[in-house]
Amino acid sequence: MKPITKLNRSDMDLRGVIENSAGGISICFFNNKGGVGKTTLCANFAAELALNFDAKVLVIDADPQCNLTQYVLPEEDVNDIYSQQDPETIFSIIRPLRSGKGYEIELPTRKSEKFGVDIIIGDPRLALEEDLLAQDWRDARSGGIRGIRTTFVFAELVKNAREKNYDFIVFDIGPSLGAINRSVLLSVDAFIVPMNIDVFSVWSLRNIGQTIATWKKSLDIGLSMAEEPTEVTELAPRGKLRFIGYVTQQHKERTGYDKIDGEDGPTKVKRKVKAYEAVGAKIPKEIEHYFKDLYASPDITPHLGDVKHLGGLIQRSQLASEPLLTVSGPGTASRGQAREIYRGLVRALIKNLQAAKLFGA
Ligand SMILES: Nc1ncnc2c1ncn2[C@@H]1O[C@H](COP(=O)(O)OP(=O)(O)OP(=O)(O)O)[C@@H](O)[C@H]1O
Ligand SMILES: [Mg+2]
Repeated sequence: MKPITKLNRSDMDLRGVIENSAGGISICFFNNKGGVGKTTLCANFAAELALNFDAKVLVIDADPQCNLTQYVLPEEDVNDIYSQQDPETIFSIIRPLRSGKGYEIELPTRKSEKFGVDIIIGDPRLALEEDLLAQDWRDARSGGIRGIRTTFVFAELVKNAREKNYDFIVFDIGPSLGAINRSVLLSVDAFIVPMNIDVFSVWSLRNIGQTIATWKKSLDIGLSMAEEPTEVTELAPRGKLRFIGYVTQQHKERTGYDKIDGEDGPTKVKRKVKAYEAVGAKIPKEIEHYFKDLYASPDITPHLGDVKHLGGLIQRSQLASEPLLTVSGPGTASRGQAREIYRGLVRALIKNLQAAKLFGA
């Protein structure tokens, strides 16, 4: 497919990297802090990969809030689907496990024409499965095969999607460190951390780093004690959950002017937000401190880029269920800027995936 926006020569090379790779890279956007722009980033990253880099992308809404689904599908479709008694959703993947029937083989995908991706839509019923996943996690940690099977339910989904030749399999999850998110994270190759620049985000980096390390350790112990080692080898995901980069975001308007009294009366000076700058300066070190052991490769450039406050463009894009890349009409003056930003993010991600040898792995 022809790119929506013009690609330069090195972008065309990156497009070639995707085309010639074995594909099937699974990525999750995650931060333990809510409202940092995970869903917006996930959807628009996916659209840039699909519409400009011609990648075959599957997005999976594993957040029971279903924000991703609402974003990438037209409102009428969303209303029709969720008015049904029992729509096919991500819940269809989990349900057979509850009744002890093993994994669901069919992927319940739909198309988002505007974003150019396939989607497995979210489901509020997923929240009811936290209990099952939590119980079975305890079992998995002590080597129980049932628990391991449940824990790897999303790994099986990823495996299926790889067989369907998706280049990227991208999960959006909610902000908790609960059982669903654990199961998703332990199934993917890599995670990206979208974050705000504030002190709470630094706390959440600490939470994520520590929690993921603990999960991985517990799972390794569980797998080593497994009742049926051959089945475990088949079940264990290819993904080893590595950190592939972070994206800083600036959702509050930081620009503006302050009045300062000078010798010649008051003058307007560009506003400086001291706390913001101080926290921002600390972030690279904090990332390294908490994620170093999880780096996909020592050669990655962890900061994938910075997303500016895109104000009206975001609302317009949500309203139209259309990516930032293509949405038009009133309020879309910053679309060119958004295109630049997302192009930069995708370039940086592909380079990191190359550095981590995840292409063709
Ligand atoms: N670049 C941006 N500029 C301005 N507003 C943005 C930007 N990105 C996201 N937002 C707004 O911030 C809000 C939160 O974004 P989003 O839903 O993507 O966050 P989230 O991290 O997925 O939230 P949750 O933790 O609830 O899943 C949304 O209302 C969205 O419109
Ligand atoms: Mg979200």
